[in-house]
Amino acid sequence: MDKIYAKIAGVGKYLPDKILDNAYFESIVDTSDEWITKRVGVKERRMADEDVFTSDLAALAAENALRDAGMSAGEIDLIIVASVSPEMYTPSCACMVQKKLGAEKAAAFDINAACSGFIFAAATGAQFIQTGMYKNVLVIGADTLTKVTEYKDRATCVLFGDGAGAVVLSAAGEKTGILGTVLGADGNSGDMLTICGIKVSELDRERRPYGNYRTIWMDGQGVFKFAVKTMESATREVAQKADCSLDDIALVIPHQANKRIIDGARKRLKIDESRVFSNVEKYGNMSAACVPIALCEAVEQGRAKPGDKIIIVGFGGGLTWGSALIRLGD
Ligand code: UT7
Repeated sequence: MDKIYAKIAGVGKYLPDKILDNAYFESIVDTSDEWITKRVGVKERRMADEDVFTSDLAALAAENALRDAGMSAGEIDLIIVASVSPEMYTPSCACMVQKKLGAEKAAAFDINAACSGFIFAAATGAQFIQTGMYKNVLVIGADTLTKVTEYKDRATCVLFGDGAGAVVLSAAGEKTGILGTVLGADGNSGDMLTICGIKVSELDRERRPYGNYRTIWMDGQGVFKFAVKTMESATREVAQKADCSLDDIALVIPHQANKRIIDGARKRLKIDESRVFSNVEKYGNMSAACVPIALCEAVEQGRAKPGDKIIIVGFGGGLTWGSALIRLGD
């Protein structure tokens, strides 16, 4: 049997209109535009309205990706949503998206690998295509982190925003699409970045003196070091796995948590700034949504062109990390 590839048939994004700029944070916590710009590289983030949730953003991004692919929702066989901020434990965000899109023939499930989530979801979707089980898979990264952010904590509140990005993967005969993936996890370090669910431990209580346990806590410096190291290793590893030199890569699209993390990994990889995509200044960290939104914008801006080989790479809670080498279709 001929090998089946999972090509990128369409990309889409959705960002809420409301903007939180650094001046807003200066008005609510002891911080400054200068500190945020220098230490994180963020100027603005988006915020969904109170009654707008992750599945709403996810469905809007998915509609845009379907339009880009020239496909209808009825052609989708599977929907995978990566998120750490779905509005419900059940139904899954993917099932809610299935309903909103009217994608009645699609199976649907969620994946939680925090900020690495979209890469895990894309790798999973590609497997379903490569085995011949499905032809068209909708992969979405969507998060409303503003709903799980403690706005009294200056160390975290300035970092996060809301958004969604989506990709349609379709079966192809030619060697294109997702050509290699690397996924990893270190559960032993899971305590470094947490959002409580049903259980709230003593440690979780201590870390959240303001009393809202469904907010993000992290060891910023610890995650920073882990991030720079794993972004470098996951980028090198996936290139090697797909038999590519880093010189052949037109663009690296990293998770957008902090400009200093992106720069640190880029320097270790010895890649010129022009070959690394960043939009962290506009949106901040949107967890699983960062990578697909960045991919979509790289395509829109002509920085990722048909035939280009690109690498998407990320890290996040879990702890987790992942990368994928993608050849964009002609
Ligand atoms: O997607 C994965 C999730 N997370 C990440 O990727 C985050 C990774 N970590 C980071 O990006 C950085 O560690 C942070 C941006 C979170 C923090 O930057 P940092 O350079 O590591 O700062 P720090 O934690 O070492 O804090 C340095 C100082 C501290 O003050 P003192 O103790 O030196 O007086 C903090 O209290 O900066 C202070 N600080 C702030 N000052 C002004 C922390 N947050 C702020 C703030 N404004 N917003």
